[in-house]
Formats: sequence, C-alpha cells, structure tokens
Amino acid sequence: MPIDLRSDTVTQPTAAMKAAMWEAPLGDDVFEEDPSLNALEQKAAKLFGHESALFCPSGTMTNQIAIRVHTQPGQEVLCDELSHIYHYEGGGIAVNSLASVRLLKGDRGRITVDDIAANINPDDIHFPVSSLVSLENTCNKGGGCCYDWKTVEAIADFCRSRQLGLHLDGARLFNALVATDTAPATVGPWFDTISICLSKGLGAPAGSLLLGTHATIKKARRVRKVLGGGMRQAGLLAAAGSYALDHHVHRLAEDHDRAKQLGSTLTRCALVRKVLPVETNIVVFELTHPAEVDATRQRMEAEGLRSVPFGAGKIRLVTHLDFNDDQLTETTAILKKCLN
Ligand SMILES: Cc1ncc(COP(=O)(O)O)c(C=O)c1O
Repeated sequence: MPIDLRSDTVTQPTAAMKAAMWEAPLGDDVFEEDPSLNALEQKAAKLFGHESALFCPSGTMTNQIAIRVHTQPGQEVLCDELSHIYHYEGGGIAVNSLASVRLLKGDRGRITVDDIAANINPDDIHFPVSSLVSLENTCNKGGGCCYDWKTVEAIADFCRSRQLGLHLDGARLFNALVATDTAPATVGPWFDTISICLSKGLGAPAGSLLLGTHATIKKARRVRKVLGGGMRQAGLLAAAGSYALDHHVHRLAEDHDRAKQLGSTLTRCALVRKVLPVETNIVVFELTHPAEVDATRQRMEAEGLRSVPFGAGKIRLVTHLDFNDDQLTETTAILKKCLN
C-alpha cells in the first residue's frame, strides 16, 4: 500500500468510530428528527459558543450556504486571493449567490483589518455593496498556516462596526486551535458563521457543520434543502462526527509534529528550493526546477508516496490519522531518495 499524503481526507474510519456509527439511534433529519444528528449539531454549537448548527455533506456546501445567507445578488465577498471558497469551489460564489468577489493580497492566505478597510467599496451605485468578509484558518494554500488570533479579533471588531458579515472557513480550524493552544469558545463568538469539517484531520468519513445564530441556521437549512443537501438517516455520519470531536482533536498535535519532521527533512534536500513554514499538518514545498513537479511526483509515487501538485513548482503533503511513525520513517527515506 502506498503512503497517501495527498490530503487528510483520505483517512478510513477507525473500528471504534464504526462501532459508534453502528450503534447510533437514527431518524429522518429532514424532519429534524435524527437524535444523533441533533446531538452533534448541539454539541458543536455549544463548543464554539454559537446558538445553532447545521450538518452538511461537505465543507464546500457549508461555505457556499454561508455565502448565500450573508449576501444578496450583486453584493461583494472579500477574501484572500488564496481562499478555498474562491479557488476550489467551482465558481460557487457566482453560481449559488450571484455575488462578486474582491480578492485581497494577504500573507500566505491571511488578511488584516487594513487589507479589508482598503477594499470596502464606497456607498456609490457604481460599486458592488461590500457585505461579507471570509477568512480561512488554517489556510490550505498558505501551507496550513494559522492566523494570529489578535488579528482575527481586530477583524471581527471592524466587521461588526462596518455591518459586514464575517464567515470563517474552518475546514481545519481544529488544527489551528490545537497549534495555538486556543479554546473553541474563545474565538467562536467572533464570527457570524463558522464552517468546520469533520472529514479532514478529525477523520470522519464525511460531513461538515455550519455554526451560527438560530435565525441564520434557519435560513441556512432552507438553502441546504434547495441544494439537495438534506439527508435522511444522516445520524450514521453524525455519530462518526461526534466520535471524532470527542476523540480526535487533541491527537492533531501528532500530525503537526510529523509534518514538522517532514518539513525539516525537505529543507535539507538539494532539489527543494523552499519549504513553506510548517505550522500544522500541511507541508508545501517548492522545487529547484519548477517544471519537474510531475516527474518528481511520479518518482515519489513509484517509491510508494502519494502527493498532490500545488501550483507553480509546488507539491503538497498532508499528515493525518492514518499516517504513523513507521510511515514517517519510510516517507523520509523516499523524500531523501527522490529529492537529492
Ligand atoms: C480550506 C478548505 N475549505 C473547504 C474545503 C471543502 O471541503 P469539502 O472537500 O468537504 O467540500 C476544503 C477541502 O479540502 C478546504 O481545504
């Protein structure tokens, strides 16, 4: 079996997680009657100090629903130019919300109050109405880097003072919380909505949650139905998500440690020009010869290591629940062999 570091989404549910799924009491969630799903939504909302939550099949759907709920057609979403909501959600902002996007140039995916303030449109009919700011933490394309929470708090204060909605794409928020030793309830209330993914570092087979007020989540539930995201006995998945929240958060630190070790190996490889600072479970490195991405990945794959191309000259590796110390040793050897 190759070592698969393409993403933290490739993990298999553990035996204990499967047992929790098997035993979960179920109902019809479109009637809001699935006890396991209701329990997960309540647990997640409470954890982050929000009133309510909505379970969706994917992080793309929770992000897209949030954008839809926060904007009117023709209004503008402000986000960093590396954002997942812009790059990797199939143009969904335009398709689902008929909204415009203002891309900001941040630092590896992280923006500041000044970036936002400089890009809010004046109240003039020529311009789209700036209505939503969306942050991503950790930032995937920025190499899994974390926001300084003081910056986020300042952004939240600013958005509130300017009547801008604030959404967080927290697909890997737990990685950021563990890396910065921060409690969910400290930062949760700063956002109008938060999307968290259960199927990435947390290891559940599917599912994301959108957190917000009762009123926001009521609107979000309607949009989810329109998008076809209302599932029936989804408590089966919710039980996996609950298990993940209870058992797989603190262990993320292990993924971060292994990612840092990979990063330090890569910095010593002759064919690597640069490694983005490793803060969590994502390792992005740039080759000395940018045109060699495909050939390098094929060489690594032939040795038993899977990766993804990640933009000009770059390759990404992501550590996860199914990547252990023995595999780390093996991966280190493959990297040294293929990149020197
Ligand atoms: C930062 C970020 N946001 C959102 C998503 C979307 O999640 P999903 O694949 O569940 O749609 C991803 C997926 O990798 C992601 O990395």
